[in-house]
Amino acid sequence: MHISTKPCRTAPDRCGSDEGLALRQIFGQFASGVTVITSGAKGSVHGMTANAFMSVSLDPALVLISLKNDSHMRDVIDAEGRFGVSILADSQQSVSDHFAGRLVDNAAAQFDHPGDTPVVAGALAWIACSVEQRHIAGDHTLFIANVDDFLQSAGTPLLFFGGQYRTLSEGELSQ
Ligand SMILES: Cc1cc2nc3c(=O)[nH]c(=O)nc-3n(C[C@H](O)[C@H](O)[C@H](O)COP(=O)(O)O)c2cc1C
Repeated sequence: MHISTKPCRTAPDRCGSDEGLALRQIFGQFASGVTVITSGAKGSVHGMTANAFMSVSLDPALVLISLKNDSHMRDVIDAEGRFGVSILADSQQSVSDHFAGRLVDNAAAQFDHPGDTPVVAGALAWIACSVEQRHIAGDHTLFIANVDDFLQSAGTPLLFFGGQYRTLSEGELSQ
């Protein structure tokens, strides 16, 4: 599909819907893994699927996540001051769909509590974080957070590219 190379020079809400869609498709060309952000006390944990995650600094150890301003997760993190990042394994597509609100699969919503911060059971890796900085950027809020604890397990990651789940070994997964 042809996507215009003409940049959108106006605020996103003033861009035509075709340009908004084109920009979304351009952003989707950046392949990523898939994480679930978790926060809240045991028994009332909230989870949200997010691929806007990046490592920021090794010394000190910092990570960044970007959450929609109208997401419930943003309010939970503001209240808790900490969150977990669980990097999903390629067997966890249903976990991603569950925490993105695409599918109700309560079996997918299993948490571990290795410390004060909840994480998703069976993830490829998890990072427990405490919020250091918060910046509102357009319709999203960026949280920069200290890495307090982490653990890696064996396996391969779930990937996201062009709006589709992928795996390293099999290419695109069935929907
Ligand atoms: C693969 C994937 C990646 C996503 N990444 C993000 C993200 O980085 N930030 C975000 O705000 N929403 C992201 N979403 C959408 C949220 O998961 C979705 O809006 C969720 O329902 C918000 O939950 P909450 O409002 O209950 O916290 C993503 C969805 C999918 C399927």
